[in-house]
Amino acid sequence: MSTTVSAAKNRVLNAELRDRIMSADEAAALIRNNDHIGMSGFTGSGYPKEFPTALARRMETARAEGDPLRVGVFTGASTGPELDGALAAANGMQVRLPYQSDPAVRKRINDGDMEYIDIHLSHVAQYMEYGFLGKLDKAVVEVAAVYEDGRAIPSTSLGNNKSWLECADQVILEVNSWQSIDLEGMHDIYYGLEAPPRREPIPLTRAGQRIGSPYLHIPIEKVVAVIETHSPDRNTAFKEPDKASKQIAGHILEFLEWEVKKGRMPEDLLPLQSGVGNIANAVLFGLEQGKFRNLTAYTEVIQDGMIELIKSGKMISASATSFSLGPEMIKEVYGDLRNYRRSIVLRTQDISNNPGIIRRLGVISMNGMIEADIYGNVNSTHIMGSKIMNGIGGSGDFARNAYLSIFMAPSQAAKGTISTIVPMVSHVDHTEHDTQVLVTDKGLADLRGLSPKQRAKLVIENCASEEYKPLLQDYFDRARKPGNGQHTPHILNEAHGFHERYVKTGKMLP
Ligand code: COA
Repeated sequence: MSTTVSAAKNRVLNAELRDRIMSADEAAALIRNNDHIGMSGFTGSGYPKEFPTALARRMETARAEGDPLRVGVFTGASTGPELDGALAAANGMQVRLPYQSDPAVRKRINDGDMEYIDIHLSHVAQYMEYGFLGKLDKAVVEVAAVYEDGRAIPSTSLGNNKSWLECADQVILEVNSWQSIDLEGMHDIYYGLEAPPRREPIPLTRAGQRIGSPYLHIPIEKVVAVIETHSPDRNTAFKEPDKASKQIAGHILEFLEWEVKKGRMPEDLLPLQSGVGNIANAVLFGLEQGKFRNLTAYTEVIQDGMIELIKSGKMISASATSFSLGPEMIKEVYGDLRNYRRSIVLRTQDISNNPGIIRRLGVISMNGMIEADIYGNVNSTHIMGSKIMNGIGGSGDFARNAYLSIFMAPSQAAKGTISTIVPMVSHVDHTEHDTQVLVTDKGLADLRGLSPKQRAKLVIENCASEEYKPLLQDYFDRARKPGNGQHTPHILNEAHGFHERYVKTGKMLP
């Protein structure tokens, strides 16, 4: 490397790429109706910021002129308002995958304005590479800088960027000078994942291990536009954990201590995976105050709570595919990346969420849920069976393959009008076979080694709220009457009675 980025005047050191620098509007003009675009971005980190808004402007103009412009948008996971928000406002997405959490996108999907393909995050790269998602016309990827030989310092998320760059016909780069060049050395991009039957075992045996390159390889010949930007990542601030989140965190910590005492887990636990949302963050903050040391994480996103664990010395290494930090924590961490890159590794999501590695490392997975049923089936994605909330994200990658798989939610939602424990879930993301532990503010049910009826008894007793417990018990008792199947007893025309009542009356209680 002849010139370092810090010594150079700008972030694009390759002369050919410098010749292709243009405005976001000029780059957006290269998009055709029906194009499939693979964009960077995983939560509010590392997503292109100027190209999508320019594209949304072009979509509005095209519509006004009676010449619609709509595209398919593939990303790592959710993104920021300048991408998902802007394109949804312009009604410019025909199809979106694999995860979103933007209110405007959610509304478009639930109103039937666009298609949504909700898939396991670990599957996306291989679906693309095997051709199940059709042709990828463009990749639009944010990076922090590009060297003259085409190696790029990645941004604050990796997601599917490697696959987008490899599979797309053409590439548009956003080179964001707001991103610190001290990100150099934090990433680990594994270029050895061949398709079966040539696939070899991935040589990763410790959460913090590095097995690849710190750089993304940019295919210079495919790059049709380079946009220089200076725009911040945007994640919403984490809320101070509420009472229910603290209670859930308390039950989980007590349970982990018990597991260590029983000799089922080492004293420094096993690598932690922590899902999205405030409950997950509350558990991490609980760990910070607890007695466990030398913790590691093999997870999807680095959240505020994980940084607190690293700062206090309780966590020694964390692997993820993205940062997902609140605004205050962004300032602190992005300003001190040289220090944090000693303990944090960012990987592509086909490795961060790789089922084989999750099983090998023996991860403890902790994910939020919308609802669970008395037998342990979990719905993470749908409201009343048909409206999408966010998506399955990586919860399935982790839940099925973890050493210990925990799902958690407050026992009631929407001011008590909803019980999150129901007779039968209205949509299934994780089956009873993948749910090992259910936790609500009321308590924890360890379902391992239990039959369906034994599970139901425990879930009603330990996890349901007082108001709904008698209703669930009554349902279960009546379902067990002779004549009904006695393995997983149900009364089919009543199994969704809670949901039906809510839809009719606005509450699940009679
Ligand atoms: N029925 C209807 N609505 C419900 C509900 C239920 N059973 N449970 C929760 N809700 C509503 C809440 O009332 C709240 O609505 P509001 O935004 O209008 O206030 C909303 O859903 C979110 O609930 P909250 O308790 O704040 O959830 P959260 O932030 O902890 O997120 C999930 C919970 C399930 C939505 C979230 O964990 C998720 O998207 N999971 C799937 C993806 C995943 O697990 N990713 C991590 C893998 S690494």
